[in-house]
Amino acid sequence: MGTTVRTRTTLLDVHDDDQTRRAHEAVVASRVFGRPWFEPTSYHEALLDWRHEDKAEPKEIWVAQDGADVAGVATLYLPMEDNTWLAWFDLHVHPEHRRRGHGSALMDRLVERARSAGRSSLLTDFMVPVDDPAHGYRRFVERHGFELSYTEVVRHLNLPVADDHLDGLDAQSRPRWAGHYRLETHVNGVPAPLRPSLCDVMNQLGVDAPTGDIEFEPESLNPTRYAEYLGLERDMGRTRLTTVAVSERGEVVAYTDLVLPHGAPSTVWQYGTYVHREHRGRRLGMAVKVENLRRLQADFPERKLITTGNDGTNSWMVSINEDLGFRVVELCPAYQRKLG
Ligand SMILES: CC(C)(COP(=O)(O)OP(=O)(O)OC[C@H]1O[C@@H](n2cnc3c(N)ncnc32)[C@H](O)[C@@H]1OP(=O)(O)O)[C@@H](O)C(=O)NCCC(=O)NCCS
Repeated sequence: MGTTVRTRTTLLDVHDDDQTRRAHEAVVASRVFGRPWFEPTSYHEALLDWRHEDKAEPKEIWVAQDGADVAGVATLYLPMEDNTWLAWFDLHVHPEHRRRGHGSALMDRLVERARSAGRSSLLTDFMVPVDDPAHGYRRFVERHGFELSYTEVVRHLNLPVADDHLDGLDAQSRPRWAGHYRLETHVNGVPAPLRPSLCDVMNQLGVDAPTGDIEFEPESLNPTRYAEYLGLERDMGRTRLTTVAVSERGEVVAYTDLVLPHGAPSTVWQYGTYVHREHRGRRLGMAVKVENLRRLQADFPERKLITTGNDGTNSWMVSINEDLGFRVVELCPAYQRKLG
């Protein structure tokens, strides 16, 4: 165990090159620690993210200083348009600065800030090995009054997936939906006429995905904010591949998103996948995923890995992922602390 120090927490100055570089280094070192497969994103992407002001979900970035060094970074998010009862955060301490109280100092700051913003609940999630129920990161949050709410299982899929495997999955699903829906794949955002119905289905994802004892309200994404997020991703050099299923009425009823980070050239992130309640049971989840994967493999053959997370009880999504060939790598438990 290291020596406990008196930690000073301050807001990150997002226009201070030296401080932002040190903050990025601390976050990357923390994320990579014990996870050799993890490919970090670039300083450029982090800086754009830190400087981006999202009125719907403002953030505060706090740093723990150890002399001139940034020992830790905590980002607090305060949703303003939906789920305003909660605040969520992530917190990283550089492995060389751990067990000296920096994490606790940042945590105390976050609790104080969330309380003063009138939030009744503080949420976080983080990566831990599959086989270590008493891992240090769990002990840290438990010591700070958090309780486990639900656990996502993180899976990876090595690319490329054989074409005949994808053809087989396509052949099983197509007869169930063909003639009623059309599939379309779009790069960096769907066209304007599809945006309202896409936002509607995206807003339902958090409501329907299993999240233990936490009940999320629908989110409030709209075409204006959707365009804003796409602009930020474009500036970061990221690519988003979206496959949608469109009904005969011209509305998006299912979607899946893959995001290709700029600074992590082998990695692909699976974002949301969702099928509207009235359109389930027709294998549209598998259909949109297979189609998006085909486009990914055809146009971005340098990408080697997709990473995704699903709640252990989400058997529908998990079975699609297992059929595609995803394998379990780590866990992402979500913890909650109620603020009295
Ligand atoms: C979890 C993390 C933030 C802790 O940061 P830290 O600066 O080392 O935390 P502190 O020094 O304030 O630790 C406070 C207490 O938490 C517990 N704790 C922290 N790390 C622990 C570990 N690896 N093993 C066991 N207990 C641990 C201990 O009780 C510790 O008190 P002690 O050192 O007097 O025994 C840091 O390890 C980290 O960045 N992990 C990766 C990101 C992450 O998982 N964040 C957790 C979500 S908030």
